Amino acid sequence: MITLIKNIKELLQVRETSVSKVSGAEMAVLPTLKNAFLILKDNLIEDFGSMDNLPEIKADKVIDATGRIVLPSWCDSHTHIVYAGNREQEFVDRINGFSYEEIANRGGGILNSAKKLNETSEEEIYEQSKLRLEEVMHLGTGAVEIKSGYGLTVEGELKMLRVIKKLSQNYPISIKATFLGAHAFPLNYKDNKAGYIDEIITKMLPEIAHNKLADYVDVFCETGYFSVEETEQIMEAGIKFGLEPKIHVNQFNSIGGIQAGIKFKALSVDHLEVITAEDIEALKNTDTMPVALPSCSYFLSIPYTPAREMIKAGLPLALATDFNPGSTPSGNMNFVVATACIKMKMTPEEAINAATINGAYAMGISETHGSITKGKKANLILTKPITSYYQIPYAFGSNLIESVFIEGEILA
Ligand code: NIG
Ligand code: FE
Repeated sequence: MITLIKNIKELLQVRETSVSKVSGAEMAVLPTLKNAFLILKDNLIEDFGSMDNLPEIKADKVIDATGRIVLPSWCDSHTHIVYAGNREQEFVDRINGFSYEEIANRGGGILNSAKKLNETSEEEIYEQSKLRLEEVMHLGTGAVEIKSGYGLTVEGELKMLRVIKKLSQNYPISIKATFLGAHAFPLNYKDNKAGYIDEIITKMLPEIAHNKLADYVDVFCETGYFSVEETEQIMEAGIKFGLEPKIHVNQFNSIGGIQAGIKFKALSVDHLEVITAEDIEALKNTDTMPVALPSCSYFLSIPYTPAREMIKAGLPLALATDFNPGSTPSGNMNFVVATACIKMKMTPEEAINAATINGAYAMGISETHGSITKGKKANLILTKPITSYYQIPYAFGSNLIESVFIEGEILA
């Protein structure tokens, strides 16, 4: 099946040779091609170029993209899309003056979601989660990482990971699974933290590895959650079971989680709302991708990751949604890109690089996703007619997407 998209006003994120990520200064440049064609063969990008050099081909399908922009799908490297119910009441409680921390301390927060998850059947969790997955696909996400972490019991964590696996089997979008058993200490282990960590290491991890249910291991390294020492212990165990670390750090406090992640060669360190000069220094010249989650900052009214400082220091940055019921009930990458520009002062070029190629890196798929490169997946966004790609962050409340391609096919 050959699809020709012709007369593309501007083709974004065009990379002749595959790069795995773009750092600091490189993020300022978004390579594009004006008046372009793009040829898809089955599920892959076959060719692209200027309309002046359009080769003679017999296409099964021709799409005229006059006035429209084409870019690679968003790569959302950090989500918690699989959950049960919602936390609307906590949202209203926060409006009425309670903090996220206060709500968590009285048994709400992650423990509230864990209770709901353990009370809900696997089938029902799948049904609820698939609607969110379908929604984000229509919003232009072409690859997504999904975490467990609302089970906090052997059975609950396995149930979540099985739901993630089933989603990846039933949907054409690329899905990476992350085991986040260390998301919070369950109530029955409140006074026996070592006991819960032992449960993670001796019961959950072996079962997950044996059934190949996860690609990555995550820990919520934060005051009141998992200490740096506990985080290291879990990363070390995860690595032994073949899971690369990708961790939550520096959401509320800088306690050394970044340095721990780097020590264990974490693929990414995510959140980073609170980050010190030493943290930035530590990230230099490492393979660990910093990931910012601006819609979490927006929803909780907490600081935004200081993107300018980090980019100035030469660091790469990726952007993701953090879609979850507590801190970010939104999986809209278009909003993330807009918020990064509006609140974090990233340029549109930097934000699009961060949400495509660097997002792909942060979930270990930059060889196949994140740029318009021959041989990569034909996962694309075709916009409505727009004046320029600046509109993507500028018109922050509009849906500018006309169609989404996943594996070379238009999403119905
Ligand atoms: O990434 N910070 C830790 N975990 C999630 C929120 C979890 C929740 O509130 O349910 C996050 O923001
Ligand atoms: Fe998260």
